[in-house]
Amino acid sequence: MQLPEFFEYRDGQLYIEGCELSELAREYGTPLYVYSASAIKTAYERYRTAFERAGLDATICYAVKANSNIHILRMLHELGAGADVVSGGELYLARAARVTPEKIVFAGVGKTAAEIDYALRENILAFNVESAGELHLIKNRASKQGKTGVGISLRVRPEVSAGGHHYITTGAADSKFGLSFAEVHELARELKNSPTLKLRGLHVHIGSQMRGVTPILEAVRRVVGLATEIGGELEYLDIGGGVGVNYAGEPDEPNLPDALASGIAKIFRETGRTYPLLVEPGRYLVAMSGALLTEVLYLKESGETRFAVVDAGMNDLLRPALYGAVHPVVSLAEGVSNTAYKIVGPVCESGDFLSERAELPTLEAGAGLAILGAGAYGFSMASNYNSRSRPAEVLVNGNNVTLIRRRETLYSLLKEQLVNIDVEI
Ligand code: LLP
Repeated sequence: MQLPEFFEYRDGQLYIEGCELSELAREYGTPLYVYSASAIKTAYERYRTAFERAGLDATICYAVKANSNIHILRMLHELGAGADVVSGGELYLARAARVTPEKIVFAGVGKTAAEIDYALRENILAFNVESAGELHLIKNRASKQGKTGVGISLRVRPEVSAGGHHYITTGAADSKFGLSFAEVHELARELKNSPTLKLRGLHVHIGSQMRGVTPILEAVRRVVGLATEIGGELEYLDIGGGVGVNYAGEPDEPNLPDALASGIAKIFRETGRTYPLLVEPGRYLVAMSGALLTEVLYLKESGETRFAVVDAGMNDLLRPALYGAVHPVVSLAEGVSNTAYKIVGPVCESGDFLSERAELPTLEAGAGLAILGAGAYGFSMASNYNSRSRPAEVLVNGNNVTLIRRRETLYSLLKEQLVNIDVEI
């Protein structure tokens, strides 16, 4: 297995950029999320230049759900990114990170009236609309605020299934996401006569962690066809995110952004239609930048299985438990990997594992481990289950280390519950 870029062993110790991970673990405690700023910048530039090289005009709207830490949002904003948000909370964080409203799109099947009102007040670029009911609510709320020309993209369900686990595929005919082609036609007609709303584009996002771009290209081809049928001038096509990463560190990784961009350029050439694009990568920009550091608490054997019980659990990193996702686990101290462990957390569920099988040097209690590829959908899916405080996060840039989220305290677990009760602690 190849370590992700910006991670390497030096003198027997695992480093992220210029920093030794075991020192960070000592200083900030574990479990700890650590991210490489250079890895995020490199991924962003790879994505951006892929579209530029293909001669496409593409605006990157980072999918905030992948990692919504404001320091990372601010960094991506400074690199030029907009934001794809799916809740009032994400909109709030994106705005706090100074992302300009003209580069914010708002997706999601269940936008509430309060969220719609908020996004209208912020004058975002577009609502990515997923049902007729939602479109009508946006129209109502916009009229109430006296708004005209509110940006709308219609999210198409292209009937292309793709993506890793079935929980994260979104483009199939029976998915809860998006509108059928017939519905798009109908709503596009309705929008033509609306001074309140303005149809800006069509949106498609068919799934996540795609390790090949053929399904996305098929969806784009269908959406280009649909845009042609609708006629009129659309300002852009929003082709969503979904480009996968190489969690397992297989060598000879194909350049997926390049394949995606050149495939789209080819579709534009073949159809004679060209559109500016919005793209919504999440995972690709942040996944491989991050590691979750954890300490071995106990070693035990049960039946045939050798367990390493660590201080991080499914509440900190849910992906293995929820999707059976495989994240490589490596030792902070370099050694010969000669023993297989099941890496489990302290949470009271058998589903609480971080790795079903990790080949590691022989471990002792107190050993430090890094769970790799944890930069996307790691902290952002963390919870307080088992009343565990959520970890701290640090961002490394060369030799600089910045704490970007304090570790939650015991009081964090209690404070929102301090209503109608007397508590002495
Ligand atoms: N745009 C829309 C409308 C989305 O729903 C998503 C992800 C993205 C963009 C970004 O997709 P990405 O480039 O990150 O694949 N929690 C799951 C992933 C869920 C993805 C949900 N939507 C996981 O840990 O694998």
